[in-house]
Parts: sequence; C-alpha cells; structure tokens
Amino acid sequence: MRVLLGITGGIAAYKSAEIIRNLTELGHEVRVLPTENALRFIGATTLEALSHNVVDAGLYTDVESVKHIELGQWADVVLVAPATASFVARTAAGIADDLLGNVMLATKARIIVAPAMHTEMWFNEATVENVKILRERGIEVIEPASGRLTGEDSGIGRLPDTETIVAALLASGGLSGKRVIVTAGGTREPIDPVRFIGNYSSGKQGIAIAVAAADAGAKVTLIAANLDFATTRFDVIRVETVAELQVAVRNSTTGADALVMSAAVSDYRVRTESATKLKKSNLGETTSIELVANPDILSEVDVPGLLKVGFAAETNGDLSDLAKLKLESKGCQLLVANDVSNGAVFGANETSVVVVDDAGGETRLTGSKSDVAKVLIQKIVERLS
Ligand code: C5P
Repeated sequence: MRVLLGITGGIAAYKSAEIIRNLTELGHEVRVLPTENALRFIGATTLEALSHNVVDAGLYTDVESVKHIELGQWADVVLVAPATASFVARTAAGIADDLLGNVMLATKARIIVAPAMHTEMWFNEATVENVKILRERGIEVIEPASGRLTGEDSGIGRLPDTETIVAALLASGGLSGKRVIVTAGGTREPIDPVRFIGNYSSGKQGIAIAVAAADAGAKVTLIAANLDFATTRFDVIRVETVAELQVAVRNSTTGADALVMSAAVSDYRVRTESATKLKKSNLGETTSIELVANPDILSEVDVPGLLKVGFAAETNGDLSDLAKLKLESKGCQLLVANDVSNGAVFGANETSVVVVDDAGGETRLTGSKSDVAKVLIQKIVERLS
C-alpha cells in the first residue's frame, strides 16, 4: 500500500518515526509530508532515513511537478498522525495554506486522521464540531487514547499507540469474504423465575470486535448473551444461558473462518432450576444451591480451519503466563487476557490487555475497546490471509 503520512506540529510528532518504521517493515511504501511546525518537533533527516524518500514540504518548491496533485494521486491512503486541533479545524474549513492542506483537498484517496491534543482541546466545542464535519465527509478519525499528556496531566488526547494506528490503516477490507462469529456479553444461569447466576460483563468489547470485523468486510454473526445491542449491519443471535450459547456457537461455526469468544460464560449452572420463586421462609438462615459444571464451549469447538480466539479475565497471577496456559488448554490460536482485579475493565470504555498467540507472540494494548478491537481484527486478518 502507498501511504502518504502527514505530520502536524504537536509533541506527538516524534511518534511518527515509529509509524513509518512499522509501515515500511510491513512492506508498505511511505512518503512523508510534515507541516512547517511538525519540523520543529521531528527532523526531516529522520523522516527521510526511515521512509527512504525525500521530504519536501514546501508549497513553492519543485512547483513544476504540481506536488499536491502528484502526491494526492500517488497515495492509496493519506494518514495524518498526529493531527493537531488546528489541522482538524483547517481541514474542516478546507483551508489549503500549505502543501498538506492542498493535498487534503486534492486527493481522492482514503483519509485517516489521528488527532492528538490536550483533553480540554479535544472536548472543546469547536474541535467536536470539526471532527464531526470530517467524519461526515468520510474522513476516518481515530479516537485519541487516554493517558499521560505532555505535562504532569493525563486524560484523553494522547496519540494512540502505533499498533492501533497501523491496524486502523490496514483493517479496511482485510476480512472481505470471511465469516466471523463473535460472542459477547455474559451468560445467566437461572436459579428460579426471578434470580440467576450472572457476571459483570457489559459486552462492550465483544460488540466493538463485531463492529471492527464488519468494518473490515467480514460477514459477522454476533451471539449476544443478555445484551440490548441491535444493528442492521450483521446478524445478532440472542441467548441467555450457556446451553443456548453452546447451540448458537455450534450452529454458526460450521463453515466460519474465525470464532471470537469474548462472552463471559458461566462455568457452572444450577442443577435443578426451581419452577417457583424460592422463599426465605422455606429456606431458613443458610441455604445452598447445587451447581454442575457447564461444558467449555471454546475447548469443544473443533471446526477444521476455524481460527479460535479466546478471552480470559484474571484477578491474580502473571497475566501473560496465565494467557499462555489458557491459550493452550483451550486450543486457541489467539488469546486476549484482561486484568479485572478491583472492578477494572467491566463496563468501562477503556481497556488494557495482553494478546498472546500460538507462535509465542505477545502484545500489550491499552486504549479504547474499539481501538483494541481494531488491533485484534488486524491480527485475525494476518492469520486468515
Ligand atoms: O476458563 P475461562 O472461563 O477463564 O475461559 C474464558 C474463555 O473461555 C472465554 O473465551 C470464554 O468465552 C470461554 N468459555 C467457554 N465456555 C465456558 C467458559 C468459558 O467457552 N464454559
């Protein structure tokens, strides 16, 4: 792919070096177009050395080659990372006072913008409005990550990590023609007509994965355990119990390419569900419920050629060791492990995970569940292609 990397003048500009390195290592061709202010944060020499291409950001140099048209036509994708609030505003207004601004108006390529700025600036009404305008025009805007900012402060506004940006860039179309089954949410095992054994899973990560898979062109089936989620973009099968989830997984995985088991599945169910509400007056001060083990759905799925992606929610022990053990015991090719101690991750929009694979690879990812989903989908794309 031919990537034109626009860099604008924020402190995160230094991270563009890693993006260039990452893309060229993956075999993509990169040309770099910094703004004048970006060159205060990172030198043209670095950009030229890493991209193996000359950097000439001048609007009035080499004019006979009509650079903005040539660059705009050359690119398969224009990625601007980092994008400052000012750049986002200039783009929303169509201002073309430098070479990058001219390319933005001239190109017909796909455009992806990764903003990075202080939290206050990101949430400023003007920026919110400008980002909306960009998205309405079909420009993809990657949500900034949360974390340490330039000073002592932290919050939303950081440039997402290189993996996330590169995954967003490569995700498009990578799963076209593929069938991906995603489970999400948490199962409920009935005790009586009014009570159940459940868990805190919100389903946000699984839904984000289903959406990212659909964005990448896959035909998606989402098996939603006790979720309200509805969409017209892909099939949603609603289930409540592990038994229902098991049937849905069995029925949908034949002929599928990948199964992502992000649902939190109850390990046990109640041996005998009471047909009527259990009453304290009949049970006394202490009581017990007999539980029987549920089948392990992920372990039992054995469809030739199916890529199995498991999840693990852990509260103690070394996350990456636990992830590797679970990867093997469940027969998965990828496993995503969360540390959910102290109520972390459940219901939140942000997450931090370790992804291990059966080739011994390990990646740590922190960011929004949607960004993590994109990276995971990229890993699935790589495995399926
Ligand atoms: O063993 P543990 O519950 O930690 O494993 C979590 C992974 O296994 C998740 O991917 C979950 O969806 C799946 N699982 C399953 N059937 C069960 C329990 C968990 O498929 N009975």
